[in-house]
Amino acid sequence: MKTLIGPKKIVTSVFISGTGSNLNNLINFSKKKNSPISIILVVSNNKNAKGLGFSKKNKIESKVYQYTNKMISENKILKDLNKKKVQLICLAGFMKILSKNFIKKFNGKILNIHPSLLPKYKGLNTHKRVIENNEKFSGCTVHSVSSKLDSGKIILQKKIRINKKDNYKTLGEKILRQEHLLYPRAIKKFISSY
Ligand code: GRF
Repeated sequence: MKTLIGPKKIVTSVFISGTGSNLNNLINFSKKKNSPISIILVVSNNKNAKGLGFSKKNKIESKVYQYTNKMISENKILKDLNKKKVQLICLAGFMKILSKNFIKKFNGKILNIHPSLLPKYKGLNTHKRVIENNEKFSGCTVHSVSSKLDSGKIILQKKIRINKKDNYKTLGEKILRQEHLLYPRAIKKFISSY
């Protein structure tokens, strides 16, 4: 896509699969006067995702895609995104990997938040692996999405110290709080760099 700068808010879709605490946080962010984004569609691959409650509560349209066939679902999503002129996708706990084809065909930008200090600990169960490896630090990363898992350009990262008493649950909670601070900041940075 050409540019994300302009007087109007960036038309944004958030993709979720589960709890949706990041979605809720981004909705609150989008409602702030100086927020650069407007969330117009929530996409989920899971009809039981708790996060869908946040779109309902805030009267934001949501759509659930079956994902029995990835290509068919992705094409449907692309069609809907184009119809709604979506310029930015924010992945927020979306558990499906977008295909190369999707990334190429989507005429816009895609961001993701990952609960580790990328490039370390790509993939799932990050907190468990971090604790098992006796790491002293962990954190979260917002990055742009490329066709390789958790590998696009890093926009912002927040590092936190792990206490001796931390287990993967307490660590996850601590990092999630940081995610909620980081994602809006990263979106602002990302948008202003275009
Ligand atoms: C977050 O930890 C995010 O970094 C990861 O999935 C989790 C989603 O949490 N990609 P929530 O659904 O936003 O509460």
